[in-house]
Amino acid sequence: MKTFRIALIGFGNVGRAFARMLARKREYIEETFGVSPQITSVATRRWGGLVCPEGIGEDLIGIQDPESGWEDRLQRLFDPGLDAMDVIKAGEYDVMIELTPINIMTGQPATDHVRTALEMGKHAITANKGPIAWAYRPLRDLARKQGVCFLYEATVMDGTPVYNLSRENLMGCRITEVSGIFNATTNFILTQMEKGVTFEDAVEEGRRQGFVEADPSMDIDGWDAAAKLTALMNVLMDAQIRPDQIQRTGIGHITIGDIEEAAAQGKRIKLLCRGRLVYGKPVGTVKPVPVDRDSLPAIMDATSSYVTIDTDLMGATTVIEEPFEPEIDHTAYGVLSDVLRILKEEKN
Ligand SMILES: NC(=O)c1ccc[n+]([C@@H]2O[C@H](COP(=O)([O-])OP(=O)(O)OC[C@H]3O[C@@H](n4cnc5c(N)ncnc54)[C@H](OP(=O)(O)O)[C@@H]3O)[C@@H](O)[C@H]2O)c1
Repeated sequence: MKTFRIALIGFGNVGRAFARMLARKREYIEETFGVSPQITSVATRRWGGLVCPEGIGEDLIGIQDPESGWEDRLQRLFDPGLDAMDVIKAGEYDVMIELTPINIMTGQPATDHVRTALEMGKHAITANKGPIAWAYRPLRDLARKQGVCFLYEATVMDGTPVYNLSRENLMGCRITEVSGIFNATTNFILTQMEKGVTFEDAVEEGRRQGFVEADPSMDIDGWDAAAKLTALMNVLMDAQIRPDQIQRTGIGHITIGDIEEAAAQGKRIKLLCRGRLVYGKPVGTVKPVPVDRDSLPAIMDATSSYVTIDTDLMGATTVIEEPFEPEIDHTAYGVLSDVLRILKEEKN
């Protein structure tokens, strides 16, 4: 059976969850697409790089049994002298999956990782929003020129189909506006504050539950939501906008008093995102807004999020991401769905 070789650039929460999911779905992939998926290359910051053309054993990369010492055995195979670019340039893969942390201010080094893989004629997938927030159009055009796929489903609302839905099910529609709640951390904090929990305690509780970062300032200041809005506007509306061009207000200044005042008027405060073209010019906003209790954004509790896509031909379509355990599997599925799409394209 032909092998489909995968490079993981970043092997943190998402990379590990993806490797586990790939192991679970191996049989399905082999039966459906007639190829055997193999992780052949991995890059990390601390361990260095690993290039293994024949495939890294599933016991080491996919099964991840905590009793088996898999992580220590895997780490020993890495070469600390190899960095991400060395692994990408070694070319021992069919698809490169970019899973390093986002730099919201530059989109780097992820954009260079994607560009280099595409230049080498490889497919590229990113869960990192950087490349599509900062360089979507040139990367899309490069992928087209090279006859390869460039996919990014996990960048907004994890594995919930947003780009796939627009691509496959809203064909022929012109997208006129995207809006919604895109950041789970801020939605959780605002929901907790409605219960009288202080801002600081809400952040701490989110950390304890594992979805709030050690430094949550990118979420609280609205940068994460702005990067997601930028990504959606660039892909769905060809807006060519950058995260720093979004009109952005975070939730750091919101007090329990503000929340109580909104509640007294039958409202809840939500961090809303909205992107549209005004006379052809892209306009994106992220800001906390009091919304009516019975409106769509108001029913999004805790880590739920949603996106509404407005179109010229069939009005609005809304997709909701519900909380799910383990939450990281949502993101891993977003990456896997891109891999499956490439396999489908290659089969046709
Ligand atoms: N976590 C989520 O739920 C989620 C959801 C949607 C999208 N995403 C996006 O997916 C990406 C990965 O997220 P994550 O949660 O897996 O992050 P993470 O747990 O912090 O893992 C990041 C990985 O990238 C490696 N890395 C960092 N800089 C690198 C470099 N310059 N070259 C090579 N490897 C490098 C790290 O290596 P070390 O371990 O050695 O530091 C680590 O293996 C991020 O862009 C994130 O925004 C995440």
